[in-house]
Amino acid sequence: MRTQLTRDDNAIVTCTAWLWGNQGHIVTNNQCFSSQEMVDAAKFGFDVQTTGCDDSCTFATCPIGESLIEKGNVKFIKFDPTLDYAVLQITTDAKHFLSTYGYLKIRLVAPVLGEKIYIPQHSHGKAKMIATTDDDLGSKVATIHYTDYTVVRNGTTYSHLIAYTADAVPGSSGSPVLSREDNTVVGLHRMSKLSLVNTPPQRHPTHARLQLMNKFLTDAEYQHGADTPTTAPTSKAPFHFLDVGCGPGVLTFEFAYRYLNASPPTDIRITATDLSDGMLHQLSERLKDDPSLQGFASKVAVVQMDGLTLDKVESGSVDVVGSNFGLALFPGRSRGWTSAHRVLKDEGVLMVTAWDPKSTQLRWFDEIAELFNAAGGAEDEPMALPSSIVGADKEKMIKELQEAGFRNVEVYHTSHTIVFDDPNGMIDAIMNNPLTAKFLERLTREQMKSTLAALLERDAGANFFQAEEQPGSTSADLFADGRPRLISFAAYTILARK
Ligand SMILES: C[S@@+](CC[C@H](N)C(=O)[O-])C[C@H]1O[C@@H](n2cnc3c(N)ncnc32)[C@H](O)[C@@H]1O
Repeated sequence: MRTQLTRDDNAIVTCTAWLWGNQGHIVTNNQCFSSQEMVDAAKFGFDVQTTGCDDSCTFATCPIGESLIEKGNVKFIKFDPTLDYAVLQITTDAKHFLSTYGYLKIRLVAPVLGEKIYIPQHSHGKAKMIATTDDDLGSKVATIHYTDYTVVRNGTTYSHLIAYTADAVPGSSGSPVLSREDNTVVGLHRMSKLSLVNTPPQRHPTHARLQLMNKFLTDAEYQHGADTPTTAPTSKAPFHFLDVGCGPGVLTFEFAYRYLNASPPTDIRITATDLSDGMLHQLSERLKDDPSLQGFASKVAVVQMDGLTLDKVESGSVDVVGSNFGLALFPGRSRGWTSAHRVLKDEGVLMVTAWDPKSTQLRWFDEIAELFNAAGGAEDEPMALPSSIVGADKEKMIKELQEAGFRNVEVYHTSHTIVFDDPNGMIDAIMNNPLTAKFLERLTREQMKSTLAALLERDAGANFFQAEEQPGSTSADLFADGRPRLISFAAYTILARK
């Protein structure tokens, strides 16, 4: 739809907006609307279009299917200047507009490099046009060229942009960027025809991406509403997050803080599951004892369960399945993918993290496995290198997920530096992990601990520099100086949709 607002200096500003989901929400840019006053003063024009996309009409003469103008018909709901979006909602007879003009759905998974797109828009406030190519010759299909782009415009840096090539000019701000593959919205157009440094001149990086999981979850209620059938009752079930292999609760608590603490709180419930009762005990104790988490206890169900079967979770009952270094590492994980797919609602999202086989800690375990193998006799079966078992092979993982029925599988490579303030504590935690027991069949505890300490110290050395030569430590404890040890890790975050 076309929006129209008259500024104080009498200039008319037009933008593009669109209906999102079946609850009458309107999405556009924050630069177009940032307050209820602006909404009250605006005109919303539906079906501003001509037969055959004839563009001979002007802003003033283009035919309009219907206008929504009266104050009180549209509510300003929320905005985000960084992501440059604004969400409004039709409050009077939304059903009429939805059934007459239809609505769009947002894809929860971000666009991928090379994805083909198109952009319906009201350039210069004129009749609807659809940008399908990246130049006026119509030879190249509009395509995503960058998925994490940074640009400086008028002294301001804009980061995490999706950049694409598509015809777009002023007035198209707020337009939906649609995937040609599934006709869902994969972006919100925000800037056109920038002068960019280091960028081929014909490319017009645009758009703040609807930031993947973060954005999706922040606006969980709206996302949910977008996919509810029109006949559904207005009272929705809470958003359901399932943490598989939750361990002591890293992901569960991240969700709890972020979404239950939101104002107003997101109506969300969390099911935290793990095979190990020790892990679940740790999580429950923290939920009970940590004052910052106590308020969430009633929203978190702690259930002992095999992540490969998820047999205590109803089919089609979960909005997001998350598993932080869990499901992707479980032996026989294909069964786990199938179960995750079963419990997810249609359009639900799977988010798992997995280690890069070359990541530091997997190299440590490979070296310990080599010691283990060297300690065995000629007739002993050698242990496979841990990196080859739990390290993620991304192509294999994508294939497995597709075979389990997931679509839009995306894999992001991430690298992190972890600061160990208490390196000995970390080594003790490894020593107490049940998986370590296997190594202790051939190595002594002392041997394993000192090997881990030496490996940690070696790799932390790559991240530490000191001007003055220090006297060597005489302590048996490599970490007696109390300095933190910084270790780099590499992993994958994998997103997929049912
Ligand atoms: C590397 S830990 C990750 C824990 C947690 N997600 C975190 O981020 O700290 C893997 C977890 O998976 C659990 N686990 C292993 N096999 C499992 C299975 N088949 N079903 C459920 N949980 C399992 C372990 O008990 C452990 O808590």
